[in-house]
Amino acid sequence: PRALRIAVIPGDGIGQEVMPEGLACLRAAAARFNLDIELDEQFKDWATCDRYLRTGSMLPEGWKETLAPYDAIYFGAVGMPNLVPDHISLWGSLIQFRREFDQYISLRPCRLMPGIACPLANKKVGDIDFWVVRENTEGEYSSIGGKMFPGTDREVVIQETVMSRIGVDRVLKYAFDLAQSRPKKHLTSATKSNGISITMPYWDERCAEMAKGYQDVSVDKYHIDILTAWFVLRPELFDVVVGSNLFGDILSDLGPACTGSIGVAPSGNINPEGTWPSLFEPVHGSAPDIAGKGIANPVGMIWAGQMMLEHFGYKEAADIMMKAIETALESGGSQVITPDLGGAGTCQSLGGHIANLINKL
Ligand code: NAD
Ligand code: IPM
Ligand code: MN
Repeated sequence: PRALRIAVIPGDGIGQEVMPEGLACLRAAAARFNLDIELDEQFKDWATCDRYLRTGSMLPEGWKETLAPYDAIYFGAVGMPNLVPDHISLWGSLIQFRREFDQYISLRPCRLMPGIACPLANKKVGDIDFWVVRENTEGEYSSIGGKMFPGTDREVVIQETVMSRIGVDRVLKYAFDLAQSRPKKHLTSATKSNGISITMPYWDERCAEMAKGYQDVSVDKYHIDILTAWFVLRPELFDVVVGSNLFGDILSDLGPACTGSIGVAPSGNINPEGTWPSLFEPVHGSAPDIAGKGIANPVGMIWAGQMMLEHFGYKEAADIMMKAIETALESGGSQVITPDLGGAGTCQSLGGHIANLINKL
């Protein structure tokens, strides 16, 4: 594989705490496998609420031109809702990246790891092992709408859901391709076409059309309400789950919560064509409730780094990173594992343990 240039953006809250652990693990993998990876840390105050309070914007002017030449962005988390309203901090940073860099796939694995006490009864390793493929640039996250008659009793707010044929087809195609590459070859589509009567039937229609080209993939669809119930009651039903922007967002917190903690879940925001940089981040947010305590689980951040290496074809290094994560969770012990998984360890104890394993496994 070729040299990689990565822009490192830790962001707010625990983003600042888990990022050093993610970087240490990537550096360990790079050293061990002689990978040519530049981790550019000049973006420490980009996409932070501090920066917003100081300058009035989350990102400097020209951010797009600055970041475009990088191969990928390694991203922590954003949001300090006590200081800056979330829609301002997020639409001023992460959501801009996704939209402007056309990262139309959000790829989120959900896997029960060895050694973790599953919050669902009677589940063993292998029972929960699926991918959520989330549409990441349109759908319910649209900028079309507005507020009318503000401040009066006629006040109305509207935010339109947008589904384009290109937008729906490309995420479905990605999900079908992924399903086809997996042993079970099964795809589940999240819908709500009983209630949301224009966009969701359209999603179903495009899904049925796409399925015609994948005769070897078995397909089912569930309305989002009952789908959340099946996630909890029968997670073994799922292999690849594809959903709109909002549905995929919800499913990708619920799924990892069913595997023990959302702190372990990673996410790839992918521009499959490679025209623009892809972005790899944990699924979780800035966790203001535990920020500064040093107890955030770094696995989501580290696993996001693993996904990044895998995305660029550094398979050997990615495999060792995955093995190191699994080994640490299974046998790190309660002094190493973080409190969200029932341990008494810290962000650094778990991150450092994984980095060591990457060196020597
Ligand atoms: P959150 O993911 O930040 O936190 C939810 C709960 O999970 C909290 O109790 C938190 O302590 C816990 N948690 C999250 N990550 C953890 C980890 N690594 N280890 C241990 N515990 C962890 O979600 P939220 O509370 O809805 O949002 C907080 C802020 O983060 C808001 O500003 C929100 O907009 C933002 N947010 C940002 C992103 C992102 O940048 N990608 C994602 C989600 C939320
Ligand atoms: C995520 C987050 C974001 C989203 C928020 C912070 C805008 O929840 O990455 O899942 O909704 O996409
Ligand atoms: Mn989310």
